[in-house]
Amino acid sequence: MKFHVHHFAAAALLLLLFIAACTTDPIIPAGGIIEDPPVEDPAETNPCPEGVVSFQFEILPIMVSACGYSACHDRASHREGVILVDYESIRREVRPGDAGRSDLYKSITEDPNDEDFMPERPAAPLTSEQTDLIRDWINQGAENTDCGIPCDPTQTSFSEDIFPILKDYCVGCHGNNREDGGVNLSSHAEILASVNNGSLIGAMKREISFAPMPPLGSFVSSCRIAQIENWIAAGAPNN
Ligand code: HEC
Repeated sequence: MKFHVHHFAAAALLLLLFIAACTTDPIIPAGGIIEDPPVEDPAETNPCPEGVVSFQFEILPIMVSACGYSACHDRASHREGVILVDYESIRREVRPGDAGRSDLYKSITEDPNDEDFMPERPAAPLTSEQTDLIRDWINQGAENTDCGIPCDPTQTSFSEDIFPILKDYCVGCHGNNREDGGVNLSSHAEILASVNNGSLIGAMKREISFAPMPPLGSFVSSCRIAQIENWIAAGAPNN
């Protein structure tokens, strides 16, 4: 009897794997997939001291979304030898303590008409909040800090709380110039489409029927996912 149960379990598992393979079939950008997020939220277990920039939860998501995708600076493409998908590869492009003399910072802040300006057109330039964070991280020593950003799950303003998360983590690959997977997250109206079909939360929670998002870099912390879920529960307003 035990023998049969084992066989049944093995067959069920195979069937599940088969279904999962067929329904997700993810095109994971080269550079590696991130591990499943831990249950604990880094904002609770290891919060950032006041003013300290978190490489893992602030800088890496921006770099992966704005630069580390295919055809640019993922491992497979490495344009001009530059890879921007993890701490080691990003650290190579900066001078710790001196943002002004760091190629990475110069390329994102110089005159947009300059041919070295990044991200290359037609991609949108980084916002000043994003370039300021990158500057501060370099000037703080460009360390591999992995503290969590303090976060309150009940703060759910679209413009103040929700959109900034998607801008840092997602819009580089899901904007007007690059709609990976046919998904655009660059405005409230566009985001609603992914809210309504359940894929926005499903992909971030790494549910089996969705491609896990972001595909590399750092996961979105559970508190930030909770903010997005609470905003959706309130009707996903454009507030
Ligand atoms: C480095 C580029 C990149 C980043 C960053 C990224 N995505 Fe994606 N995304 C993709 C690609 C490529 C696909 C298509 C994957 C596939 O079809 O297997 C995709 C697919 C999706 C889908 C459709 C998933 C499905 O199974 O239907 C959703 C929703 C999505 N992304 C949301 C997000 C969100 C939310 C973020 C930020 C938290 C994000 N993505 C960050 C590249 C990216």
